[in-house]
Amino acid sequence: MRLLTALLLSTCLLTASPWAQAEVPEGRPFGETKDGVPVELYTLKNDHGMTVRLMTRGATIVSIEVPDKDGQSADVTLGFDDVAGYEGDGNQYFGTTTGRVANRIARGKFKLDGRTYALAINNEPNHLHGGVDRSLDKVVWSAEGFESDEGTGVKFHYVSPHGEEGYPGTLDMTVTMLLKADENAIVIDYVATTDQATPVNLTNHSYFNLAGEGAETVLNHELQLFADNYTPTDDTLIPTGQIASVEGTELDFRKPHQIGERIKSLDDTAAIGYDHNFVVNGDWGQLRPVARLKDPQSGRVLETESTEPGVQFYSGNFLKGQAGKGGKVYPHRSAICLETQHYPDSVNHPEFPTTILKPGETYRHTCVYRFTVE
Ligand code: GLA
Repeated sequence: MRLLTALLLSTCLLTASPWAQAEVPEGRPFGETKDGVPVELYTLKNDHGMTVRLMTRGATIVSIEVPDKDGQSADVTLGFDDVAGYEGDGNQYFGTTTGRVANRIARGKFKLDGRTYALAINNEPNHLHGGVDRSLDKVVWSAEGFESDEGTGVKFHYVSPHGEEGYPGTLDMTVTMLLKADENAIVIDYVATTDQATPVNLTNHSYFNLAGEGAETVLNHELQLFADNYTPTDDTLIPTGQIASVEGTELDFRKPHQIGERIKSLDDTAAIGYDHNFVVNGDWGQLRPVARLKDPQSGRVLETESTEPGVQFYSGNFLKGQAGKGGKVYPHRSAICLETQHYPDSVNHPEFPTTILKPGETYRHTCVYRFTVE
């Protein structure tokens, strides 16, 4: 009896101890795709009130719950309750890993090593976000939960065969998403290798509203972008090749501005709001500040850092009031994306940092989304 009490006591002490091991996250069934492929959901939690849910379809961030300045938790990313939702018309890359080449490729064409490649035109007249049926947001990735000194996470893996969605080379990709134990941050690490030269531009396409998904607007949020320059585009959002200063334009977010403050003047432009690639200050390849987003009401702040040369700031202009989690409605401009990436159409712009990955090289990209309150 005494032994049993001692055992029970030590178990209690161990679990309550600050050195208690976090558990290795396990995938739970989340339904299946319309083709019958099982999809799993992983739940990560830390001791600072942050919960992240990730699913294997599209290596997708399904939810991010974080506290506000009064400790009230809310889910700050758009998404759906089930796989069918993600497969439906309402899904505009919500939370997905996007590629092989995120953003646009002019007329879906590029030349590489003397050959011309033609990809799907799914955003007239251009190719967008890696294609149609087998873009990275739609395939089911394999996954493995892990626990480390830094926190808990999921390592997603997918090998895209040569020719998938028209891209050359077998592309082997690992996307690791880590929820930090010591702060409310998710760290996304992308690694890719190929057996043939091929363009690669991976990003995460989470839609954020720091008041909680389903809040009717994001225009009241304040945004700061650590970018002195941007890449002007033609009418189809393809860069002209110019790098222009944000000075004197509605794209100047070097000091924080409300998203809605100047957006009206962009209504009649090709982007129909903010849908621009900004050139992030500092040396790319190094982790450095990209953006700071604040919701003055809840006090929630999202800091974005990345190693990538650019960030696509998209103000949810195509959100159309679709029903998301719990039937909540996602109206026009009710969330924003901060897609850390290379510049759009880099494959056709030799003057831009290259997106071509060659055999023997390793593509690496780190993106941090950190949540605080103020
Ligand atoms: C990106 C693009 C937008 C739009 C969204 C998805 O942000 O730049 O134009 O296609 O993805 O709806």
